[in-house]
Amino acid sequence: MAKYNICAIFAILFMVSGVIMTLEGAVDPIKENNCEGKMDTNCVLEVFGSIFKNGTVTQHCCQELIALGQVCHYAYVNRALQLPEFKNENSSIILAKAKQSWDTCYSVSPTPSP
Ligand SMILES: *[C@@H]1O[C@H](CO)[C@@H](O)[C@H](O)[C@H]1NC(C)=O
Ligand SMILES: *[C@@H]1O[C@H](CO)[C@@H](O)[C@H](O)[C@H]1NC(C)=O
Repeated sequence: MAKYNICAIFAILFMVSGVIMTLEGAVDPIKENNCEGKMDTNCVLEVFGSIFKNGTVTQHCCQELIALGQVCHYAYVNRALQLPEFKNENSSIILAKAKQSWDTCYSVSPTPSP
């Protein structure tokens, strides 16, 4: 499995906002669900690291992830999968890892929001 520069992920997430929507003419679920700017940048990187690079997510960032919500979590993962850098990834594996990260965070988060 290829290794990704974490800075590239950062750049992708924060600089291509809106590009997918323009290209595909679809509603951007990240904008539609008001997902932007709800998590610390370092937590975004931790969560993506856990999905794409087998990293771990700290409890602090897990709480932010749960607060962000599952819809936004998957919206970000799906956006990443549409990018050229990740289009060769097996999306069923990535989505399974995204679910795993969510479930792990959900189980360690003391105050899960509905
Ligand atoms: C992540 O872990 C899985 C299972 O332990 C392994 O198959 C995979 O190669 C690892 N990926 C990376 C990027 O280290
Ligand atoms: C993706 O992974 C799943 C589960 O390991 C496998 O069944 C499927 O064939 C893979 N798809 C591709 C395109 O490699």
